[in-house]
Amino acid sequence: MSTAVLDTPPAPEAPVQSFTVTLIIRRFDPDQDTEPRWQDFDVEMFPTDRILDALHKIKWEQDGSLTFRRSCAHGICGSDAMRINGRNRLACKTLIKDLDISKPIYVEAIKGLPLEKDLIVDMEPFFASYREVQPFLIPNSKPEKGKERVQSVADRARFDDTTKCILCAACTSSCPVFWTDGQYFGPAAIVNAHRFIFDSRDDASQVRLDILNDKEGVWRCRTTFNCTDACPRGIQVTQAIAEVKQAILMGKR
Ligand code: SF4
Ligand code: FES
Repeated sequence: MSTAVLDTPPAPEAPVQSFTVTLIIRRFDPDQDTEPRWQDFDVEMFPTDRILDALHKIKWEQDGSLTFRRSCAHGICGSDAMRINGRNRLACKTLIKDLDISKPIYVEAIKGLPLEKDLIVDMEPFFASYREVQPFLIPNSKPEKGKERVQSVADRARFDDTTKCILCAACTSSCPVFWTDGQYFGPAAIVNAHRFIFDSRDDASQVRLDILNDKEGVWRCRTTFNCTDACPRGIQVTQAIAEVKQAILMGKR
């Protein structure tokens, strides 16, 4: 009769240590406040937690009136861009342990768009600029019946970077030109124009280039690179703007 040899049970893992972190959030309630005000919250968090988790914890356990947008919680929908320690980021992609937790973490709404409540701004001016650049395919002809519009790998690669945009507005609302001139189209609109201007299947590039060759178009860009630094998708925003400028001057390449 054989005897089963039992594996040695794995050593129990050390419990993950929690820590207390202070968030200082810029609050604004249009029904009560004449000016935004800062409010402190202490929260118990774990190293795997993100700023979005801290905001949920505050809302669910301390102050249900705290107002912010979020949907996917995984960096896809683009709804939770905010200023975290003075830098535009997605709350759902910012791990608290990656910030300096020995100091309070400052959280406020993105700049340059009308503040509605707490961390929420009115996104309509942002989306108005986006719509203006006609961010959709405009071909002059129909594909052959039953056929797709074909495109080479190289042609598809030409605009691959700008397809990644999730319209979070982190770039546009980090742009000092946009802060002082809300009429400027802003980096996100230009990125989304770029996505179609350089698409070989599209026939309306010149229309978009004419729209952006405006006093509030690409020439307002001062190449500060704030937009590229802010983009949570790693899009080379400043380069895309430069390519659109070049296409206006020299034609599309
Ligand atoms: S380019 Fe980047 S930062 Fe700007 S809206 Fe798109 S994803 Fe957000
Ligand atoms: S909640 Fe969707 S990107 Fe952060």
